[in-house]
Amino acid sequence: MGFPSNGSSDKPLKFLIYGKTGWIGGLLGKLCESQGIEYIYGSGRLEDRNSLISDLESVKPTHVFNAAGVTGRPNVDWCESHKVETIRTNVVGTLTLADVCRDKGLILINYATGCIFEYDQNHPLGSGIGFKEEDIPNFMGSFYSKTKAMVEDLLKNYENVCTLRVRMPISSDLTNPRNFITKIAKYDKVVDIPNSMTILDELLPISLEMAKRNLTGIWNFTNPGVVSHNEILQMYKDYIEPNFTWKNFTLEEQAKVIVAARSNNEMDGGKLKKEFPELLSIKESLIRYVFKPNQKTPVA
Ligand SMILES: NC(=O)c1ccc[n+]([C@@H]2O[C@H](COP(=O)([O-])OP(=O)(O)OC[C@H]3O[C@@H](n4cnc5c(N)ncnc54)[C@H](OP(=O)(O)O)[C@@H]3O)[C@@H](O)[C@H]2O)c1
Repeated sequence: MGFPSNGSSDKPLKFLIYGKTGWIGGLLGKLCESQGIEYIYGSGRLEDRNSLISDLESVKPTHVFNAAGVTGRPNVDWCESHKVETIRTNVVGTLTLADVCRDKGLILINYATGCIFEYDQNHPLGSGIGFKEEDIPNFMGSFYSKTKAMVEDLLKNYENVCTLRVRMPISSDLTNPRNFITKIAKYDKVVDIPNSMTILDELLPISLEMAKRNLTGIWNFTNPGVVSHNEILQMYKDYIEPNFTWKNFTLEEQAKVIVAARSNNEMDGGKLKKEFPELLSIKESLIRYVFKPNQKTPVA
């Protein structure tokens, strides 16, 4: 930590954000506005080094945020059939941005993924033993995860990068089809597995604070603890839609309706909690930031 960035001086904050049209990038802009932080969206493409240099030279930011990435539409299965496009942005592009930021002495806050781990013998489901920041990714079941794990490994060598491992992001906007809650509430059938997840309403402001503190390195960017699909859907039923019902299926049955495997894991939230002691557990955060603000029915 403690990269001697341009942002550590007394200059007023000015954030350059990539991912203007994306979910997380869009939320970041709104957050900067609400906090009165000057920001501008990058217009360059990640894999085009000259376009990034031109952004940095014209904007002269104090910090750079990367919420640009290929996630696939309608889902990560897209990456299985678009491997070069996925590499171009998630590997070549992300590394290029980290490299030009380093050249300019700038910290890059990179929204990465925690979907590079899966429960294993040393981290069994239900054990409460989560994957730590220094653990080596053990899930390459999808091409998307594979590119993200590879790039995370390479980015470790860049002392100017703050890697935030986001997982199954959830926001208070239940109309957004990307929201994990909205997704699983619409599926015909869901698996029921405890996972670590990221409540964006609580954690994105923390990422801005991490920039202000010039934090770097790898961070599990999830709320502490785990929550299962059924627990979330039960909360949805209790707070939002009393007549809501759902059906479960097994991982084996799920495998028949998706192309690439999906990761399920618990991440150790200790490092982030130590830096931000006020951080809520995943279940508390779900209620505080998502279900209470959207509450339609009185909860017993
Ligand atoms: N949503 C999730 O479930 C999830 C979970 C964990 C981690 N993450 C990570 O968080 C990041 C942001 O996710 P998101 O859900 O906000 O993604 P998103 O809604 O799909 O948005 C992706 C953004 O990246 C931009 N982009 C893609 N390729 C680019 C390139 N080569 N150069 C410049 N911009 C490019 C897109 O702009 P254009 O439309 O102009 O291409 C778009 O603005 C991604 O890296 C993702 O892997 C997401």
